[in-house]
Formats: sequence, C-alpha cells, structure tokens
Amino acid sequence: MERVVKFLKDAETYYLATVEGDQPRVRPFGTANVFEGKLYIQTGKVKDVSKQIHANPKVEICAFKNGEWLRVAGTLVEDERIEPKKAMLDAYPSLQSMYSAEDSNTEVFYFKDATATFSSFTKEPETVKF
Ligand SMILES: Cc1cc2nc3c(=O)[nH]c(=O)nc-3n(C[C@H](O)[C@H](O)[C@H](O)COP(=O)(O)O)c2cc1C
Repeated sequence: MERVVKFLKDAETYYLATVEGDQPRVRPFGTANVFEGKLYIQTGKVKDVSKQIHANPKVEICAFKNGEWLRVAGTLVEDERIEPKKAMLDAYPSLQSMYSAEDSNTEVFYFKDATATFSSFTKEPETVKF
C-alpha cells in the first residue's frame, strides 16, 4: 500500500469517481494519508461527493504520473474519530484554514477491500490488494 500512497502523493492530483444513481461523477482530489495502516481520504460533509459516498460507498480513483496510471477501486468507510481527521489535517496544513478535526463538516474515509492496479503502455498491469 505504501507504493499506492507514494504514487498518489507524487502525482499530487487524482480523480475520484462516485456514482449518483446511474450517473458517474468525477472530480479532482488530493488528500491521501496513511493512518493505522489504512489509506484515508478527506472531504466535507456539505459536498455532493460526500452525499454520494454515503449513498453508495463504492468508488474508484485514478491518478497519472510519468507514463503510468494507477486505479484504486474499493469501498470507503467513514471514520468519525478525531485522531484520523487530525492526522489528515497535520499532513495537509493548507486545509487547516478551511477544516478542523472538531468541526461538523470535516470527514475522512478509509479504503476497504481495495484493489489497486498500476498500468502503463509498456508493462503488464500490476495489482495490489489492501
Ligand atoms: C487539485 C485539487 C485537489 C482537491 N482535493 C480535494 C480533496 O482532497 N478533498 C475534497 O473534498 N475536495 C478536493 N478538491 C475540491 C473538489 O474537487 C471540489 O470541491 C469538487 O467540486 C467536489 O466534488 P462535488 O462537486 O461532486 O462535491 C480538490 C480540488 C483540486 C483542484
């Protein structure tokens, strides 16, 4: 999983796909943090993306860097504890002007049953499960 997190951080931006009914939705995301051995992402409860995840937690993300792309498909699980929120905001100090671990908006999710696939035009895909 460390390789997955490093790829996401090096790419800086990944695209998070959710579903809303039968309509895919996708947007840029950047947060990725390992806490207690799990890959967490962060959002705000006021956002449509949050509402979509709560309605259907199956998501996929995609990032591209140096001719290689990574897809991570899995199920997001909300973690309401302060500690993973604080760890996330410590990892992304720029978010601290908009979010705090104690506010009613900040939320973090970790990936469960995730399948990460590294692909390129020159090599066979490699799959990692975590
Ligand atoms: C480079 C980049 C990174 C972003 N990272 C995040 C993120 O980690 N979490 C988040 O909630 N929004 C992030 N955003 C903002 C979301 O893309 C934006 O709020 C989007 O509209 C949310 O999707 P929604 O409109 O479907 O709710 C980022 C935006 C950009 C441009």
